[in-house]
Amino acid sequence: MKETIIVIGSNGQIGTELVNELRSIYGGDNVIATDIKEPSYEVLHGGPFEFSDVLDKAGLQAIFEKYKPTQIYLLAALLSAVGEQKPKMAWELNMNGLLNILDFARTYGVKKVYWPSSIAVFGPNSPKQQTPQYCTMDPNTVYGFSKLAGERWCEYYFLKYGLDVRSLRYPGLIGWKSAPGGGTTDYAVHIFHEALKSNSYECFLSENTELPMMHMSDAIKATIGIMDADASLVKIRSSYNVAAMSFTPKSLTEEIVKHLPDFKISYVDTDPRQAIADSWPKSIDDSYSRKDWGWNNQFDLPGLVTDMITNLKK
Ligand code: SER
Repeated sequence: MKETIIVIGSNGQIGTELVNELRSIYGGDNVIATDIKEPSYEVLHGGPFEFSDVLDKAGLQAIFEKYKPTQIYLLAALLSAVGEQKPKMAWELNMNGLLNILDFARTYGVKKVYWPSSIAVFGPNSPKQQTPQYCTMDPNTVYGFSKLAGERWCEYYFLKYGLDVRSLRYPGLIGWKSAPGGGTTDYAVHIFHEALKSNSYECFLSENTELPMMHMSDAIKATIGIMDADASLVKIRSSYNVAAMSFTPKSLTEEIVKHLPDFKISYVDTDPRQAIADSWPKSIDDSYSRKDWGWNNQFDLPGLVTDMITNLKK
C-alpha cells in the first residue's frame, strides 16, 4: 500500500534528516514536510512542504484533508533549556500539540504515529547508571514532565482507541547535517563546529557531566526501525529507552584531540543547563528495545568523532 507521510516540525535537528531519509525510502512526493518556519533548500525542493502550526487545529485539519496521511511523525517541541525560559509555552506546545495530532490521527484513520520522548523523563531520583525502562521518574523540567505526560497519553490512545503510536526516549543527538536548538545536550554538537573553526570551545557543562548520547544516523535508524517493526513486536506503547554511548565533555575532548591535537576546552560554571544535566541519567539500559524490535546502534564514541570531524571538514 502507498504510504503518505507527514512530518511535523520538519525543520528541526531531527526533522531535517528524517525527511530526507523518509523521502529516499518512500519517494519525495509521498513525504510532506511541515513546519512554522521556512525549510532548508533540500527539504523545500525534495517534496511537498506546508507551513503549519501544530497548535492551529483549522490549519491541521486542512492538511489532513488535503493529504489523507497514513503515517505521522510529530517532532515539533520546545526542548529542555528553552522550556525552562518559556515554561507555559513549552507545556502548551509539547502537550496540546501532541493531543491535537493524536485526535486528528484517530479522526482520519492514520495507521501509525511516531512521537519522540527523551531521557528528560527521568529525574533526580531515577537511577543514574543504566537507568532502566521502568523506575522512579520525577522529572523537574517542564520539557521532562511534558514528555512523561505525553508518554502516558500515547499509551492511553493505544489502549483505549487502538491508535498505533510508537515512541523512543532519545538521548542527546549528534549530527553534522543539522543544528540542535535549545537543548542541554547541544554542547556535544557545538563543540565540533568550534573545534574546527577556532580549535577551542567554552563548554556550558562541567567536565565530568556524563550523559547518554547517540549519532543522528543511529537515531534516524532507530526511528524508522521502530516504525517499520511489526506492530506485535512493539510491546511498550509509552516510549522505549534507546541508547548508544555515554560520555562527558572531558572524554569527548580526549577523543577530539586525537584528530585535532591543538584543541582546547574550557568550562563556564554558571550555566542553568548544568542543573538540568545533573538531573538526568548518565547511561541508559535499552534492553527492551534490543529484545523487542531488534534495536542496535552502529556508532560508538570514536566512530562518532571520526564521522563528525570528517564530514564537517568537507
Ligand atoms: N537533547 C534534548 C535536550 O537536551 C534531550 O531530549 O533537551
